[in-house]
Amino acid sequence: MEAFALSTYDLGGGLLRPLSPSNIETLGVALAAMPPWSVIGWPAERLVGSLARELPSVRRFELVVEGKLAGTVGIQDPFLLGPYLQLLAILPGFQGRYLGSAILEWMEGQARMQEARQLWLCVTTYNARARAVYERFGFEHAALLDKLATEVSDEILMRKRLRYEAPHF
Ligand SMILES: CC(C)(COP(=O)(O)OP(=O)(O)OC[C@H]1O[C@@H](n2cnc3c(N)ncnc32)[C@H](O)[C@@H]1OP(=O)(O)O)[C@@H](O)C(=O)NCCC(=O)NCCS
Repeated sequence: MEAFALSTYDLGGGLLRPLSPSNIETLGVALAAMPPWSVIGWPAERLVGSLARELPSVRRFELVVEGKLAGTVGIQDPFLLGPYLQLLAILPGFQGRYLGSAILEWMEGQARMQEARQLWLCVTTYNARARAVYERFGFEHAALLDKLATEVSDEILMRKRLRYEAPHF
């Protein structure tokens, strides 16, 4: 099967399935109310618009846990010789249950199927929780993108190498 195919994936703790149009509004409103989007002040309409925007290289999924909407993930692929985590959000009632980590595992598994060299993402500097999750998963600082999303915040471009031969000295 093609990597990141719009299909249903069993992550153990929940199901990932293609984002259904009927959940876009609910997710946009929920994301606008939670950090980091509430901190940078992105309105629900903007988030709804972004979730609804169809781009050929972006695949969107919803996470469902025990029949309830628990989050969303968007993957941009191809990106830079590997996929880019365009959006990852676990809704507040479901955070800290290793669902975000399970989605990262899924992303890596899909990327390995197509022999990607790396995974990419951006995280706001002050989003300490997300940074800790990503670092534990093996993402490393690749570059600082200052004022990428707003005039008062900076993003870190992070990469997890999947295939890398360390130089021999
Ligand atoms: C960041 C995020 C994706 C992580 O997903 P998650 O499912 O909550 O995190 P996990 O359960 O896989 O993370 C495991 C670790 O992070 C800790 N953790 C992360 N976020 C937590 C939260 N909101 N509440 C409690 N613990 C949290 C856990 O304690 C756990 O640490 P431990 O192994 O030392 O016990 C998720 O919290 C989230 O969507 N946050 C809001 C949106 C966001 O910041 N998205 C990322 C934008 S780049």
